[in-house]
Amino acid sequence: MFAKKTINDIAVSGKSVLVRVDYNVPLSEGKVIDSYRIKQSIPTLEYLLKQKSKLILISHLGRPDGQVKPEFSLAPIAQVLQRMLRTKVHFAPDCIGKPVTRTLAAVKPGEVLLCENLRFHPEEEKNDANFAKALAAPADIFVQDGFGVVHRAHASTVAVTKYLPSVAGLLLEREVDTITNVMVNPSHPLMAIIGGAKIADKLDLIKRFIELADIVAIGGAMGNTLLSANGVFIGKSLSDKDDLPLAKDIIRLARHEAKKRSFVFVLPRDGVVASSPNPTTKTRIVDWGSHAVAEIENYPRRVPLSSATVGNHEMILDIGPFSGSFIAGCLQLVNTVVWNGTMGVTEIPSLISSTGPFAHGTELVVDGILGQFGNRPFSLIGGGDTVGYIESQGLIDQFNHVSTGGGASLELMAGRKLPGVEVLEDK
Ligand code: 3PG
Repeated sequence: MFAKKTINDIAVSGKSVLVRVDYNVPLSEGKVIDSYRIKQSIPTLEYLLKQKSKLILISHLGRPDGQVKPEFSLAPIAQVLQRMLRTKVHFAPDCIGKPVTRTLAAVKPGEVLLCENLRFHPEEEKNDANFAKALAAPADIFVQDGFGVVHRAHASTVAVTKYLPSVAGLLLEREVDTITNVMVNPSHPLMAIIGGAKIADKLDLIKRFIELADIVAIGGAMGNTLLSANGVFIGKSLSDKDDLPLAKDIIRLARHEAKKRSFVFVLPRDGVVASSPNPTTKTRIVDWGSHAVAEIENYPRRVPLSSATVGNHEMILDIGPFSGSFIAGCLQLVNTVVWNGTMGVTEIPSLISSTGPFAHGTELVVDGILGQFGNRPFSLIGGGDTVGYIESQGLIDQFNHVSTGGGASLELMAGRKLPGVEVLEDK
């Protein structure tokens, strides 16, 4: 149960409400190319607009390092928001002072004001009290709905709450509730599928799942690092040598856990390799044999062929068909799956498909999660590349919960407190 007050717990009718959203969305040539975060903020905004509140929205975009950089302007987002809310969205060229009060004077009830990037001011990331006071000045109430940024202690997430009654929006409540429920009280069997580049970024998450889950499967570039730590030659595959000691620790932990209870840790046993990630390059499947670090009883072992190795000039770009099918098979046995990180290179389209030749492993994972082989577990999806991939395939509405948070969802799953949530009023 979410322990903080939300917009349902206080009177907002007719008030000026400062809403912290996370509109840190990808832009290309000044156009929003992924509007998932904006879409997810709509229920809170619609609720507040129905209550005849005056909305002042604040957000960051990118990392402009405290300087005004036009390529990080939030202006293109105002148009997208206006279409989604079907009401006028005014844009203030700053987030504090006269530009805000002047634009606000023109905002009619039922309309919205979106302010320029908070991070054009260096004080935002310093959690500066005076800057927070200036942000709070035109408002009566503060609503935190930017789940993606609550792991940061910034002026618009922490200091601002000293100057206004501060409650959560509906997105923040749903994110924290859903993720916490899965981590604290999951419906077992629970499977975690983790991919992506760096082990160091997801170390706590992997460790938490080794303790909590029944099956943990790893793919992506971090899978390469674990394979390398497990003695598999990975050629020139993307992997992080600095992460090798961490990878060895993870394997040790997984083996230890598997001795204590029924637990399976799945590393890819085959991969799609090529000399480069170019979609026209010839690919081949390499099967290096040993699959699960913590072997399942009676797991069919195959003796690795001497030729079944990645070449010096080859790289692993996806998990192979055996590994993909194995993960999809595991998904038939579980009630809950948490997926964070793609299994291979999914962002390179081929000439004939939008997903490309190194996305088949990830496609199998998606099919397995979405019940294409029968069982359909409760699915919790997090992480920028994963969400970008399923959004690009038009599948985002098919999963039970797709988090808008990257770092924030990782921290919450790893069991850390989120400073931007802690400071909100208790119920
Ligand atoms: C995100 O995209 O993860 C959030 O918007 C936070 O952005 P940041 O990592 O630049 O603080």
